Order: sequence, then C-alpha cells, then structure tokens
Amino acid sequence: MKNLMVTGGAGFIGSNFIRYAFEKTEFRGKIINYDKLTYAGNLSNLRDIGEKYRSRYFFVKGDVCDFKKVSETFKKFDIDTVVHFAAESHVDRSILGPEEFIKTNIEGTFILLKASLKESFKKNFRFHHISTDEVYGSLGKSGYFYEYTPYAPRSPYSASKASSDHLARAYYHTYGLPVTISNCSNNYGPYQFPEKLIPLIILNALEGKSLPIYGDGKNVRDWLYVEDHCSAIWKILKEGKIGETYNIGGECEQKNIDIVKKICMRLEERMPSKKNLKLKGKRYIDLIKFIKDRPGHDRRYAINCDKIKKELKWKPAYNFESGLEYTIDWYIKNEEWIKNIKTGKYKKWISENYSKR
Ligand code: NAD
Ligand code: DAU
Repeated sequence: MKNLMVTGGAGFIGSNFIRYAFEKTEFRGKIINYDKLTYAGNLSNLRDIGEKYRSRYFFVKGDVCDFKKVSETFKKFDIDTVVHFAAESHVDRSILGPEEFIKTNIEGTFILLKASLKESFKKNFRFHHISTDEVYGSLGKSGYFYEYTPYAPRSPYSASKASSDHLARAYYHTYGLPVTISNCSNNYGPYQFPEKLIPLIILNALEGKSLPIYGDGKNVRDWLYVEDHCSAIWKILKEGKIGETYNIGGECEQKNIDIVKKICMRLEERMPSKKNLKLKGKRYIDLIKFIKDRPGHDRRYAINCDKIKKELKWKPAYNFESGLEYTIDWYIKNEEWIKNIKTGKYKKWISENYSKR
C-alpha cells in the first residue's frame, strides 16, 4: 500500500479512518481523500491531520459517480488501494428521499469498480468495500448475522448498500478485481454528524431540546466504537483474503432507550442539569419523548464477528461504557466543531427534517 484513495474521507468513519492510518499504524504512504462534500462531509474533521501530514495527505473534491474525475485521480496519484466509504448513510433520509441513495451508493460504487478495473494490472491493487450489517435485514429476539446470512434489506438505504455489495462481489468473481468487503454494525464516536442517534441525543440534551425515541425504544443495535471499526478495516487491508467478506461488530447489543438513559446519566455527572439554564429546572431524562416509529424500523441487529476475530486476530479495544464516555466528553469539549456544524448544513437539515417530527 503506497497510495491509498479513501472515498468519503470527510465523513464520520472515513475521517476517523484517515486519522487512524496516519496516527496509529506503520503506514508511510499517501492518502487521497476523495469526497463530494455533501451535507455530511466536513473537511474540518481533518484540519489538524492535513497540517501535520502536509506532504502525505491530499484532498480531491469529487463525486464517485464521475467516472472521468475518478479515473483522473487514480492516474494522478498512482492509486494502488481504494477504501470505499462514500455513501448516503442515513436511513431516515433514505425514507424521505431515496434518489440520492440509489445514485451514490449503487451507481457510484459501480463507477468506482469500473474505474478500478483499469488499474488492476498494478501489482497488489486492492479495492475494499465498506458495508453495513443492515443488508442482512432484521432479527427477532435470538440469532445473529453471519457472513453467509442471506441478504434481506428493508429500507432504501440498506437495499442500496446490498446492491453495491453484490456489484463489488460480481467484479471479483467475473473480472477478478481484487475485492474485499466488510459489513459492520452501528458505529459511534467523535465527528459523527448529529442526525444519528448518539450525537443527536447528546446535543439535544445539552440544548434542553426533546430526545426523540422512535416507537417503544426497544429496538436493538450492536454498537462499535469507530476506532475499533478502523482497526478492523486496517487488519483486512493488511491480512484479509481477496474475495472474502468479513463481519465487524462490537458484540454489544443495546436497546435504544437504554442508550438514551445512559447518555442522560453521564451528562448529569459531567454537566449537571441543575446548572444548565437551558434545562429550565428539568433533568436530562425528563426530555425523553417517544415519537412515531420509523417506517419499516428493523427490530434487532446482532453481528457474529468470529471470522475476523479468529482469522485475522482482530478484537475491539473499547467497551461500550468507555467508548460512550469518551464520545460524550468529546462532544462537550469540541464546541467549535459543533458550532460549525450547527450554523451550516446541520441547521438546514434540522429545519428541513426535525421540525416535521
Ligand atoms: P457519513 O454520512 O458520515 O459520510 C459519508 C461521506 O461520503 C461524506 O463525507 C460525504 O460527503 C461523502 N459522499 C456522499 N456522497 C458522495 C459522492 N457521491 N461522492 C463522493 N463522496 C460522497 O457516513 P459514515 O457514517 O461515515 O459511513 C461511511 C460508510 O460506512 C458508508 O458506506 C456506510 O454505509 C458505512 N457504514 C456506516 C456505519 C455507521 O454506523 N455510521 C456502520 C456500518 C457501515
Ligand atoms: O447498522 C449499521 C448502520 O447504523 C449504518 O449502516 C448506517 O449508516 C447508520 O446510520 C446506522 O443506522 P441506524 O438506522 O441503526 O442508525 P441511527 O443512529 O439512525 O438509529 C439508531 C437507532 O435509534 C435506530 O433503531 C433508530 C433509533 N432512533 C434514531 C434517531 C435518529 C431513534 O429512536 N430516534 C432518533 O432520533
């Protein structure tokens, strides 16, 4: 790996991955962050990294659906490894407007695969496709998702990701493109856009706004601290077998309502509601509001990640308690980042979507 192209590197996981590669691995090559900068892309996620690794970090503003621009970027930087994060990633938005999901997630992945095939004559060329556990559908009270679980996506988002996985696999089987795929569970941590449950709840609570919980709050997700996802991807890039799929998860099932309560408890310790004027005498927990359920809301996700643990000797470094505490503290300390998000695209998103609830 000399010249690594990270698509969607200005987003939540992509920016954490670039930070991880520079700061926590032996990697000495270049990273090209290829990102369209949608509402979810934020270059300030990597401002310090850009300054520190000036000669090894490059940003290209581009759309993964743009074959010409992708191909030019491959040539210009002599790319030998692609890590494909770029996607529309939020289930609620896919329900409100699926078009962008079909375009970026399906067509964009196809364009990248097509352009990659032209580079695959290079020795050790590699395409790693980032996917989600949502492609496997919804579980009942028991059972787990395995790498061989049949796909059963149920939202426009998960259907678009499933489609992109199939294309990536087809390019391996049909054309011999050296592809690996990973399907990961819910991530949380620094730099996550506050449309997703954990940052939304932290920021709303601090602002004294209601804490929206869909349905009965008993839907279960399997949570993984973002840096652990990054370390798993790194392992796959280094030691993963071409053509293989690896599930990644935290073995950490949590009901939504329990997560929201944990956040409220931690906030009471860090920023007692009594001293927060925005709470007007309420406790954080009093802000919880059960609202109309998400259409087609998947009940439970739970990943079996024995394969990556056994074959690649990966294991997560954070447990949920330490990861959540660190995340809450990060959002409290990073006022500048939050201000930046809130005055820009976030504000627009809130006025377009949140006011409708
Ligand atoms: P995100 O929404 O925070 O970031 C997505 C990034 O992709 C943004 O920087 C955006 O500007 C960029 N992007 C969007 N459309 C683009 C286009 N057409 N061309 C180029 N760039 C474009 O997403 P995330 O949460 O960091 O997720 C990253 C990847 O990981 C996605 O593929 C997602 O499906 C997958 N994933 C996410 C999670 C999770 O919990 N967040 C879990 C498993 C898998
Ligand atoms: O499982 C992996 C997936 O996790 C990724 O592929 C997606 O990109 C990522 O967005 C995430 O999807 P979810 O739909 O699980 O994440 P979200 O944070 O939107 O919701 C988590 C749970 O919390 C889900 O059951 C819905 C619920 N929820 C969410 C929001 C935003 C609420 O109850 N209230 C809310 O306001």
